[in-house]
Amino acid sequence: MTISTMELLVLPDRRQGAKLVASMIVEAIRLTPAQRLGLATGGSLEPVYKALATTVARGQLPLSALHCYLLDEYVGLPPDHPARYRNVIEEQVVRPLRLDSSQVHGPDVTAADLSLACDEYEAQLHADGGIDLQLLGIGTNGHIGFNEPGSPRGSRTRVARLTEQTRADNARFFGGRHPDVEALVPREVVTEGIATILDARRIVLVAWGENKAAVVRACLEGPVTEAVPASLLRTHPSVTVVVDPAAATLLARETIDRAGV
Ligand code: F6R
Repeated sequence: MTISTMELLVLPDRRQGAKLVASMIVEAIRLTPAQRLGLATGGSLEPVYKALATTVARGQLPLSALHCYLLDEYVGLPPDHPARYRNVIEEQVVRPLRLDSSQVHGPDVTAADLSLACDEYEAQLHADGGIDLQLLGIGTNGHIGFNEPGSPRGSRTRVARLTEQTRADNARFFGGRHPDVEALVPREVVTEGIATILDARRIVLVAWGENKAAVVRACLEGPVTEAVPASLLRTHPSVTVVVDPAAATLLARETIDRAGV
């Protein structure tokens, strides 16, 4: 297993970080309009998609050959539920970029045989040529996609269970002031596996804010271990980590010194 040093960029704030990631996406699409983009969802990616929409609105970008692939999805939510990742991407990416919904692919989480649906999604990713650029957030426990701590490095798209920590972290996307909001977060999800993620040609991970500082340190400086799935990204040759200063507060001096801005 070769361990590489991931590129680290510390931007003055999350708005500028998001803008930079949006410009990386635009550049990738300009170079290869038939870009296959892997999309994560959540609070960290939201400003990136906003910045992308603004950039796209300003310039002429060929988007008709773009294809997007959902990284993960909840199981058991009604089709119109606003927290469903397909719907989040529809609102944050498809509509602002004026894509056609058929340009977004994801696992069929309504299938009677979920495990078969996972295999079919994995096969589709392969048949379509694989992900060119995968966007990732990071969970406070180090998960990427919904690969919770302990997920095998060789894992592929599969049904997984969320930890209570992740369900608590994600409760903010479910039902606002509902008295027992955590109970509304599904336990079951479908997620691309670690090996599926590592198949992407290029990976960009974003993290903002103080509550990600400990896990950013574990990801960049801790042992490369399945206990911190994001640390396994250090076995990939082309990963860029984009953070704001708050998410970088616990990093060692040497790590910061080699970071770009
Ligand atoms: C969601 C996903 C997750 C999130 C992570 C961080 O598609 O893949 O790994 O990226 O849970 O979520 P936020 O950005 O909401 O803190």
